[in-house]
Amino acid sequence: MSDSPAIEAHLSESRLFPPSAAFAAAANCNDAGIYDRAKADPIAFWSEWASTLQWDKPWDSVLEWNPPHAKWFVGGQLNLTTNCLDRHVAAGKGDVEAIRFEGEPGDTEVITYAQLLTRVQEFAGVLRGLGVDKGDRVTIYLPMIPEAAVAMLACARIGAVHSVVFGGFSADSLKERIHDSQSKVVVTSDGGWRRGSQVALKAAVDAALEDSACAGIEAVIVLRRTGQDITMFDGRDHWWHDLAESAEPVTEAVSLDSEAPLFILYTSGSTGKPKGILHTSGGYLTQATATMKLTFDVREGDVYWCTADVGWVTGHSYVVYGPLSCGATVLMYEGAPDFPARDRFWKIIADHKVTIFYTAPTAIRAFMKWGTEHLEQHDLSSLRLLGSVGEPINPEAWMWYHEHVGHGNCPIVDTWWQTETGAHMITPLPGIVATKPGSATRPFPGIDIDVVDENGESVPNGSGGFLVIKSPWPSMLRTLWGDDDRYKNVYWSKFGDKNLYFAGDGARKDEDGYIWLLGRVDDIMLVAGHNISTMEVESALVEHPAVAESAVIGKTHDVKGQAIAAFVSVKEGVIADDALAKELKAFVGAKLGPICRPDDILFTAELPKTRSGKIMRRLLRDIAEGRALGDTSTLADQSVVSGLKSKYEANEG
Ligand code: WT7
Repeated sequence: MSDSPAIEAHLSESRLFPPSAAFAAAANCNDAGIYDRAKADPIAFWSEWASTLQWDKPWDSVLEWNPPHAKWFVGGQLNLTTNCLDRHVAAGKGDVEAIRFEGEPGDTEVITYAQLLTRVQEFAGVLRGLGVDKGDRVTIYLPMIPEAAVAMLACARIGAVHSVVFGGFSADSLKERIHDSQSKVVVTSDGGWRRGSQVALKAAVDAALEDSACAGIEAVIVLRRTGQDITMFDGRDHWWHDLAESAEPVTEAVSLDSEAPLFILYTSGSTGKPKGILHTSGGYLTQATATMKLTFDVREGDVYWCTADVGWVTGHSYVVYGPLSCGATVLMYEGAPDFPARDRFWKIIADHKVTIFYTAPTAIRAFMKWGTEHLEQHDLSSLRLLGSVGEPINPEAWMWYHEHVGHGNCPIVDTWWQTETGAHMITPLPGIVATKPGSATRPFPGIDIDVVDENGESVPNGSGGFLVIKSPWPSMLRTLWGDDDRYKNVYWSKFGDKNLYFAGDGARKDEDGYIWLLGRVDDIMLVAGHNISTMEVESALVEHPAVAESAVIGKTHDVKGQAIAAFVSVKEGVIADDALAKELKAFVGAKLGPICRPDDILFTAELPKTRSGKIMRRLLRDIAEGRALGDTSTLADQSVVSGLKSKYEANEG
């Protein structure tokens, strides 16, 4: 993007939603002074939060910063499971519900803090019994069931490093991640439930382990979930329940260095092999806890539901470590939002009286497409706070979430962060910040973020540029597992010796200094000398009543450099014809200005998405430019792109 013009703002937003007086009065934090205090002394701010945790040995210094390497709470020792479990039980909260689980077939289970502690002690003993020790890596490949949390926490209890691989990933992806992490043990299940059928997890493990790259695996622990037929290999494979019977429970958690590795989580960049993001202990839990309390305003009596799978960082920080550190009650649901019917999520909220709900824009847009009748059958009045994560949320989707899910009285926290950042970085504090639909608002207290130009210089309000993080934060990644050079190159090299962390996202600051995320910079379009965000054009399209979802890309154009092509899926019952395409082009042109008017509109039932729900614009560019498709291995549904490709080619004639 060198020498390119600044990212322009076309979308304007004047709606402002301050928290209600009642919400603000009851909130964990309603003192706007927190921002200035944290800014004046971030070290004091973070050490106050770290002090809310239980340490076996206090730290000597809060931060050692040797760019780009940070150490937090240096010299301190703690164990994350002591913080997530033992201390609550010791405080007399053993009977509080830690996890409320609902399986896709409808089976339910409630696990109290005391019971969860017992299970974690037991499974930690199982791992130890197989020779797993401090620093060893354990790959976890499980469905979204309580045992996934148990397995993660059991690793943390003995200082083993977990690497959770999303259960929807293939045997190949699993193999690559086992190999890169040099894991010793795999924890899996016979299978899991997805839209009524059984996913074969154990079979994928067997396939992955056939490869000599996985020769380091000494044992596979298999949980019985579905009861499907599987092969158990003698000597290598063990049933979870058999090992648990004879395990010696780990009643005393191991005291670990604040900087002891906690987990590796692989994130697939658009190119190259997946990056093993490494997170450590004390700083990670500090920020996971602070954000849980301040962003989600969580407190006793809440039933908190984050819909993310434990295979993503959201599931690490906001299903397991953050909520349990706060002693919250976490709802876990195994399956799909549309099984057995499209009201499943709303039924869960009503049945469990969920108070805090955290999901992704891609899910919200699917709900919008399905129509409001599915929500209207259920009582959602228990909800008091809504969250969004994963992609920019289009203002139209934000308003829909606000009106139809929140009934106008739940603050929405749009949280920007990354696998790499470990915890929330930009988000409103719901008792303080007036929100604007589509904006993640302002950095979390103690977080130093800016939008800069090509040279790393701060841009004024009203301008766009690159999102950067200017100072280290407690839950930052420490490196890429086994590849520190790549860590330096990917995140810290863009602005030379300025020591700015480059997040890869475009953003702009509006006149009030609110931050608007504009998507990955690789996706930003350059049309006739104007930098236009795909997110803005997509947001304008979904404002049209016929449109459910859209993905916009810049395709090479002889004259303009790039021309805008939009892939659009319409709401149920809408007829997608040439007249509508024409209308949509005019609609966007009127809304954002003629420069943003798409040249092509292609209707499609589905858009190509990753398994975590992000639109893969790179593949859409391949399609629009008639190229062979690049790497499609991270796609959730391979048939979507091949269908689109033939449709696009037919259209082009
Ligand atoms: C990328 C990180 C963080 C957990 C889930 C994704 C995009 C994430 C937002 C948001 C705009 C967002 C960014 C970021 N992103 N949240 N609220 N608004 N964009 O983790 O897979 O590491 O992806 O997701 O592009 O860089 P991830």
